[in-house]
Amino acid sequence: MSVTLPRPGAGAPTLGALTVGQLLRLCDVAGLGPADAESHAALLLGALGPVAERPLDLPPPTRTFLSDDHTPVEFSLAHLPDRLPTLRVLVEPGCLEPDLAGNGRTGLAVVRELARAWNFSTTQLDALTDLFLPDDPHGPLALWIALELRAGGVPAVKVYLNPSASGPEHAAATVREAFRRLGHPDAFASLPDADGYPFLALDLGEWDTPRAKVYLRHDDLTAARAGTLSRTRPGPSAAEIEEFLTLAGGFDDRPDGTGLHVPLAGRPGLTCHAFTENRTGLPSGFTLHVPVRDYVRHDGEAFGRAARALRRYGMDPAALRRAMEALTSRRPEDGAGLIAYLALVHQEGRPARITTYLSAEAYEVRAPRLGLPASVPTSVPSRRAGVGA
Ligand code: TRP
Repeated sequence: MSVTLPRPGAGAPTLGALTVGQLLRLCDVAGLGPADAESHAALLLGALGPVAERPLDLPPPTRTFLSDDHTPVEFSLAHLPDRLPTLRVLVEPGCLEPDLAGNGRTGLAVVRELARAWNFSTTQLDALTDLFLPDDPHGPLALWIALELRAGGVPAVKVYLNPSASGPEHAAATVREAFRRLGHPDAFASLPDADGYPFLALDLGEWDTPRAKVYLRHDDLTAARAGTLSRTRPGPSAAEIEEFLTLAGGFDDRPDGTGLHVPLAGRPGLTCHAFTENRTGLPSGFTLHVPVRDYVRHDGEAFGRAARALRRYGMDPAALRRAMEALTSRRPEDGAGLIAYLALVHQEGRPARITTYLSAEAYEVRAPRLGLPASVPTSVPSRRAGVGA
């Protein structure tokens, strides 16, 4: 008979321990002090709930679409000129639930808990639950929460919902009805054509100007077409949007401007249209999201593109480099996916902003595309040893 003796301290690290470690180091990158960092860490653990205790040697709790390796956490940095970036974290609180209906219910309960704790209203969300959280929802998500982790401890909260909850064929009608209920009856009509409506997002809590946002999917998006998609007035110029897409997609070295017509032929580009008032019926914000990870050989290349875009807007890429080091001890060249998206954000009355979306890679590092297979498992134990430091 063999007996397995417990080895002292041998329990696998947990999802909560890994992501809280990442968050604390990212708080430092974002210039947040220890008191803020501690309260933000508690917030992340609260939003994750029991899945935080899940040992990392178990597989991901569900095949969440939140990140490529199904970690239910993704970080992002909102960069601005002349200051440190703002840190945000995206979480799927319902990821332990066996079905999407339960996933959505848990997500909603966590939003309500946050609302009670931070004293904000959920009226706008409550008005939409029948549309986005039906009893028998379709995928690929039910409810995600993003927390903007500011100095002073009070988070701003964003809730992401699935317009295809009642089936993809109803997504457009669901978005139109949601905007009508939110007091933007003309919003849907102002949008450009799209191949899908992956998310509707609501700002809840401490925002100067809360937004209702819709994300549009554009298959085979070219820079030339991307330049036509903003409906804000005045908005970014077509040339500015074109330049960002060709740079992020890696098409800007093509001769004679032919890069303008190279499509994002793999994972699609997205646009996001933000509505804040209904005087004009037009959006007040436009964002272009480029899934840079599918258009690079490795994260060294993704960083190079991000750095060029950031410098172009007078922003310092050093914080992004430090953020990558805060997330993982692997070399950027050894994976493709740490930088998931690059986005250019225009919101009326504010300077342009660049957002970088950063993966936690709790379960897997996607292999660089150098003739290797598309995806290999992380050598988890050895990599994690470095991450906890
Ligand atoms: N992982 C999903 C995707 O790649 C959803 C997602 C996570 C996303 N973070 C994002 C989409 C940032 C756009 C921008 O589409």
